[in-house]
Amino acid sequence: MDIGENGAEFVVVANRLPVDLERLPDGTERWKHSPGGLVSALEPFLRSHSGAWVGWPGVSDTEVAPFEDDGLLLHPVELSAKEVEDYYEGFSNGTLWPLYHDVVAQPAFHRHWWNTYVKVNQRFADATAKVAAQGATVWVQDYQLQLVPAMLREQRPDLKIGFFLHIPFPPVELFMQLPWRTEIIRGLLGADLVGFHRPGGAQNFLWLARRLVGLEPSRGTVGVRTRPGVVQVGDRTVRVGAFPISIDSAGLDAVARRKDTQARARQIREDLGNPKRILLGVDRLDYTKGIDVRIRALYELIADGRVDPEDVAMIQLATPSRERVDHYKTMRQDIEQSVGRINGEFGRVGKPVVHYLHQSVNREELVAFMSAADVMVVTPVRDGMNLVCKEYVACRYDLGGALVLSEFAGAAAELTSAFLVNPHDLDGVKNALQAALDIDPAEGRRRMRALRRQVLTHDVDRWARSFLEALGTQTSV
Ligand code: ADP
Ligand code: F6P
Repeated sequence: MDIGENGAEFVVVANRLPVDLERLPDGTERWKHSPGGLVSALEPFLRSHSGAWVGWPGVSDTEVAPFEDDGLLLHPVELSAKEVEDYYEGFSNGTLWPLYHDVVAQPAFHRHWWNTYVKVNQRFADATAKVAAQGATVWVQDYQLQLVPAMLREQRPDLKIGFFLHIPFPPVELFMQLPWRTEIIRGLLGADLVGFHRPGGAQNFLWLARRLVGLEPSRGTVGVRTRPGVVQVGDRTVRVGAFPISIDSAGLDAVARRKDTQARARQIREDLGNPKRILLGVDRLDYTKGIDVRIRALYELIADGRVDPEDVAMIQLATPSRERVDHYKTMRQDIEQSVGRINGEFGRVGKPVVHYLHQSVNREELVAFMSAADVMVVTPVRDGMNLVCKEYVACRYDLGGALVLSEFAGAAAELTSAFLVNPHDLDGVKNALQAALDIDPAEGRRRMRALRRQVLTHDVDRWARSFLEALGTQTSV
């Protein structure tokens, strides 16, 4: 796709740009990779196809002019500190995030948060309307921007508009709690194609289009990448489908095979004192990720005498996330307390059980950690997809390692050869962890081979192509 003189032919709109502006204590600024699965997935696809990306640069009250970054045209949208508080921390992450993740934390419903959400969505729509060429394809991303499709269509009926939700779409009983439920459904119906990770999300949306907007959606079962639902909105046909997102599998596989990566993986094992088994968790520090569940399971396995603390080391990488939102502050305290507890009771000088890093690491380092880990532990209580588990599989070209994966991650439907667990069943998690720690190597290779077959053939390129083809956009772009 080209960025023509009259605007871009292909535009991604997301809350964040793929890079975040960071202000250092000495007053200087630098751009760093943005956190989260949306950017991990979309960035490699966009960079290889070119186009424009409209998003927030991650700091408030800062006007940044559009700029080009490695072939991608970035269009920053400015947000004030108060807008960040009400639209991003408030409505997006204090209302929608917990509501869409099975109400595992209590969502708050505040009218001033909603009003700012509407205002900011309008700003994103206005910015996009200026950037997109006549007849361009615009791909709107995620829960922060659910009103943008309709707002954009209002100004630019010539555009082809897709929307993809990166988090779960909730059961209708939960969605119905939202005071602004009809506005959200109408906002999404502005798109030509509305995409979810799982068919269940698409079915829920179709039900709500009937119940809240009085439309007559199709009644057939939505398939994965096939048989999208359809709903007629005036003279437009909106399609509603399931498109499970994925990762740059071949790219990670190539990094994992590098000699320097393998040397770094060996170094990590040595730094940990060459334990028999390394367990690894990699997440944004989010209450949906079940970090507490896995630490508690390991604590009990050691306390029960089923695992010897001399034999294991667990690494938990946790990217700082949404640090000013209350639920996140409480959860961070709880997790740090449980890390202190397990290390206090079962560690010794120079050998803690859990190595907890409240930090982001770069891609090469992440692949080295994944290459070193014997057991990858992914235990969210709810997750739209979860890319970390797919990244682990892509790194294990040696067919080593075992994956413990929550049934409540979207990825569980695809990665059926993992040790699947219910994160609410602590005994089940303990049993799965122990089975993964003790796995027979031949059985481990069999499982990993099956997992790799899935992840390497269903990569992010296939995800994006299937979505854009369903939208009717040429993907040779
Ligand atoms: P979410 O989008 O909710 O954050 P995903 O599992 O879909 O969850 O995506 C998370 C992405 O962030 C993955 O690409 C993962 O590798 C990356 N990530 C998470 N934690 C870290 C970390 N501490 N350092 C580097 N990358 C991380
Ligand atoms: O899909 C999950 C997601 O919420 C993305 O929309 C978001 O960019 C990412 O995780 C990271 O969260 P945040 O942008 O709030 O730091």
